[in-house]
Amino acid sequence: MKQPYQTYTATDRDVWRMLYEGQMKQLPAIASVAYLEGIEKVGFVADHIPDFATETNPRLRALTGWEVKVVPGLIPQKEFFELLSHRQFPASTWLRKSNQLDYLEEPDMFHDTFGHVPLLTNQAFCDFMGDLSQVALQWLHVPEAIAQIGRLYWYTVEFGLIQEEGHLKIYGGGILSSAGESEYCLRDAIPKISFDVRTLLNAPYHIDRYQDHYFIINSYEQLYRSTPDIEEILSETYLVAR
Ligand SMILES: [Fe+2]
Repeated sequence: MKQPYQTYTATDRDVWRMLYEGQMKQLPAIASVAYLEGIEKVGFVADHIPDFATETNPRLRALTGWEVKVVPGLIPQKEFFELLSHRQFPASTWLRKSNQLDYLEEPDMFHDTFGHVPLLTNQAFCDFMGDLSQVALQWLHVPEAIAQIGRLYWYTVEFGLIQEEGHLKIYGGGILSSAGESEYCLRDAIPKISFDVRTLLNAPYHIDRYQDHYFIINSYEQLYRSTPDIEEILSETYLVAR
């Protein structure tokens, strides 16, 4: 599948610009430095919808070897993890309507692209996703194990927070692409929990509202180094049980 770049309308460009400008008013103070630098490295700007084939992917490939792969929308787990294991990040190409700026049931291009792609410039983060997908591919036959990996992915890649130079910052794409949750997640009243593999593998989550709590990593290397523990816990749990 290719990004149907010529079919974007003036309304689509307006939606991208409104969302981009809205988020860039608040993110410089609250988003991870790696993410903010990533926005510049991939060349995202407000008045231009990124063209994956000619703009985004050549930059990403040169930086980390990753690329954006166009998909029709939500895809089966096997396909999803296979793409990640081949250093391809699945992204849809359609944009939400201007009356859906803050909430969507299914991820659109703004979420997939603005939310996720800038961090694909960070090698440790990319290597974490690559390794996690390799673990997931080994456990496709055990739905409970895949559900656990899904929780870990959810609370890191989608809704993760990182401690950077004494400040709590956002790196999860689900938060970075949501105006409301970007502000909500950092409130003092919302519980924050230190990253711990066993805890994350067992933490249920919501897909239809803001999270009850968020998990904090100290560095992207911490994520990268966590995959052997994930493998070990899954083996302990499911190999012994069978
Ligand atoms: Fe996402």
